[in-house]
Amino acid sequence: MRMSHREDYSECGNTPVKAIEVHGRAYHFSLFNSDYKPVPDEIEQVSVGKATLRFFMGSDEIQKKFFAKVIRWDRFVGVRCADKLVGYAAIYRDGVGPYDAGLKDFIAEFGMLSGSFKFGLYRLFEMRYSRSECYLFKLYVSEEYRGKGLGESLIDFLFGELKLRGLGSLDLEVYQKNEKAIRFYERLGFVTYKIFSIPLVGRFFPDSVVFKMRKDIK
Ligand SMILES: CC(C)(COP(=O)(O)OP(=O)(O)OC[C@H]1O[C@@H](n2cnc3c(N)ncnc32)[C@H](O)[C@@H]1OP(=O)(O)O)[C@@H](O)C(=O)NCCC(=O)NCCS
Repeated sequence: MRMSHREDYSECGNTPVKAIEVHGRAYHFSLFNSDYKPVPDEIEQVSVGKATLRFFMGSDEIQKKFFAKVIRWDRFVGVRCADKLVGYAAIYRDGVGPYDAGLKDFIAEFGMLSGSFKFGLYRLFEMRYSRSECYLFKLYVSEEYRGKGLGESLIDFLFGELKLRGLGSLDLEVYQKNEKAIRFYERLGFVTYKIFSIPLVGRFFPDSVVFKMRKDIK
């Protein structure tokens, strides 16, 4: 079944710039532009919730509904198979991340009191990400496409694009219990530079120990 109805993505601000072949199928990698016009499936895919935000933003469904309205496409790289988006990476750069949500957006969605409270906490989280020159907010490959090297290729492709823009390093955070992800990032050359425990609010998070990892862009 086709997920979208576009033949030529370059017309809507998303020109494929790299292609690879895995088991006879072609996968195209591209960097999104800020004026990208998505189809609904793509909005749904890139608005997935983040476990770390659940304790004040609410369930993944609540996050999806909210973030879908404030996507900043120029903070995404994606990979397509045929015309279907099958994976993406989302980053913070220059203090700006994949969702451009202001106080107005929070109040419109959650009301004055709850919206202001959520906005305050959201900004605190953003400050943490913004301390990095460049921060990997999310790496995601659709389940049926995993294990084919697309996650690794997305990171490779992202590094190429960041290098072109003169950026020096990419940071990320991963929970200690996510051993598979830690091994995956180590294999790609990321090094743990700090381990921290989440104080007090630890019980709201999936794990209370977080690894901060970094890879220089050469
Ligand atoms: C992490 C993820 C993007 C990897 O994508 P992928 O296309 O399968 O990656 P690759 O094919 O390049 O590499 C596969 C490796 O990723 C590892 N991996 C890393 N994180 C994983 C995760 N959360 N779940 C499953 N496998 C994961 C696998 O163990 C595998 O390692 P192996 O080859 O030694 O067995 C994908 O599993 C995913 O989207 N997971 C859900 C979201 C997520 O957990 N994101 C990162 C957490 S910080």
